[in-house]
Amino acid sequence: MLIVLSLGGSILAKNLDPDRFLKYAEVLRKISKKHTVIVVTGGGESARQYIGAARAMGADEVTCDYIGIEITRLNARLLAAALGPDACPEIPTNYLEAAKAIRPGKVVVMGGVTPGQTTDAVAAILAEYLRADLLTIATSINGVYSSDPNCDPTAVKFDKISPEKLINIVMAIEMKAGSKSPVDPVAAKIIERCKLDALVMDARDPVLLREVLEREVINISPVPCGTWITCKT
Ligand code: UTP
Repeated sequence: MLIVLSLGGSILAKNLDPDRFLKYAEVLRKISKKHTVIVVTGGGESARQYIGAARAMGADEVTCDYIGIEITRLNARLLAAALGPDACPEIPTNYLEAAKAIRPGKVVVMGGVTPGQTTDAVAAILAEYLRADLLTIATSINGVYSSDPNCDPTAVKFDKISPEKLINIVMAIEMKAGSKSPVDPVAAKIIERCKLDALVMDARDPVLLREVLEREVINISPVPCGTWITCKT
C-alpha cells in the first residue's frame, strides 16, 4: 500500500526533542517495511514563532508562508536525519520530485511546497497525485468535531464523515478568528475531489500512530483517537 502521512509539526517537533524525532522515525521505519510511506512534516511552534516575528515586522502573508515552508523543510531534514539510511537522502521540494524519490524500503520526507496552504494540503495533493491508498493526518486533535470543541462545549466528534460534510465544517471554523480547523480547507477539497480515504488522528503518542497504521491500513473501522473521512458508509 502507498501511505501519505501529514505529520504535524506541533507533535513531531515539540520542544525540538531529538527523542521524539527518533521515536517517530522508528515507527516510520517499521511501517515502511510493509508499505511505501511518504511523510510531509509540519512546522509546529517554530513556524509560528518565525511567522509571528515576520508579521510583527510588517511582512506580507506570502513572505510569512515562505518562511513557514522553510521551517517545515527543516523539520523534514531533522526527521530524515533521525531515519538515517532509511530515508531518501533528498528532501523533495515539489510533487514531481517526491514521486521520483520513491524507493523500496525508503521513507520519502518533505515539507511545504507553495504559499497559501499548509502541509495537510501538500499531503492531500501528493496522495491524489500518487494515487495513494491512504492519507493520514497525524495531529494533536483526536478527530473531526461538528464545530471547534475549544469554543463550543456542545461539539460532537465523528467516527466517520463524508468529504462534503467536512468541507462545510472546516469552512465554518475557518471563518472564526482564533479557531483552528482540524483539516486545512484546501486538503478537504482535494479529499473530496479524489474520493480518497483519509484518517485524521491524534498521534501525539508515536506508539499509537504505529498501532493505528498497522491495523487500519487494512479496513476502515472506527478509531477511538480519530475520524475517517470517507465516501463509504
Ligand atoms: P504547517 O503545515 O505546519 O501548518 O505549515 P500548521 O497548520 O501550523 O500545522 P502544525 O502546527 O505543524 O500541525 C506552517 C506554515 O507554513 C506555510 C503556512 O504559512 C503554514 O501556516 N506553508 C506550509 C505554506 O505556505 N505552504 C505549504 O505548502 C506548507
